[in-house]
Amino acid sequence: MARLRQGKRRRRGLASPAPYHDRIAGIYDSIYEGDPYWKFLSEITWAHLKPHLPRTAGARILDAGGGTGTWAVRLARSGFQVTLADLSSGMLEAARRKAAAAGVAERIDFVQCDIAGLEGVGDDPFALALALGDPISFCGDAKRAVRALARVLVPGGICVASVDGLYGGIDPFLERGEIEGLERFVRDGRSEWLARRQEERFPTRAFTPEGLVDLFTGAGFSVLSLIGKTVLPIRASRRLLEEPAAYVRLLRLERRLHTRPALLGRASHLQIAVRRAA
Ligand SMILES: C[S@@+](CC[C@H](N)C(=O)[O-])C[C@H]1O[C@@H](n2cnc3c(N)ncnc32)[C@H](O)[C@@H]1O
Repeated sequence: MARLRQGKRRRRGLASPAPYHDRIAGIYDSIYEGDPYWKFLSEITWAHLKPHLPRTAGARILDAGGGTGTWAVRLARSGFQVTLADLSSGMLEAARRKAAAAGVAERIDFVQCDIAGLEGVGDDPFALALALGDPISFCGDAKRAVRALARVLVPGGICVASVDGLYGGIDPFLERGEIEGLERFVRDGRSEWLARRQEERFPTRAFTPEGLVDLFTGAGFSVLSLIGKTVLPIRASRRLLEEPAAYVRLLRLERRLHTRPALLGRASHLQIAVRRAA
């Protein structure tokens, strides 16, 4: 399976995101632990996802590009049966350890596969599919990934996904003085993950809000909601979040503003909730 996947990717001339994620898997959680900015992002992700959780206890959820299992473990703890699919064996190993430590390993299946195809997650359909933290942006074939997510859902099933935002990705090009790169980037959102090691770089794709809606509606989904993460430029002022009262006020403000169409373009990430036709 892994050989077939890498073969397809190579034929399309794409570098794989797996080596980078394999290397960082062991330290991934520690990069974010204790950082109020990541806690802030995580609260927004969860608040947007929560209303879409299945109503039935034990319902099946797919966590595609599930990484170290942050969401899979939380969902398994809530009683859902989760399949965590990821391209990186290192990430899967870290997730297995986390699930075992949390005592929910028996409620999670771990599958190594590419979100662009999802071969290997089985034939039993899912009530909810997650693709959080950019696997659609990283996979090299977003259309194929979204078609695969539609295929594995029950009719009427829900998908919640987050991707890189194109307009929110403009600033780093200017900061690096890359005008030509920026001209290319604004044409189609294609860029590269700038890992320090050349051999760990892989193609990425950012989306405009309209482009993201087209991607999902083109695969037969209807849009339930779309938010920017974050529409307030919190990252630049992250120190404000260290003060608990400011944290609460900014979170409330962000949640009040983050569906406003005019503000979506400010966000470095977009998160969409969609429903497959019944
Ligand atoms: C930024 S992490 C997000 C992890 C997790 N979803 C979260 O929100 O904490 C991105 C994950 O996507 C995985 N990934 C990247 N490309 C993928 C692909 N083509 N298929 C499946 N997983 C992929 C990476 O290995 C990594 O675990």
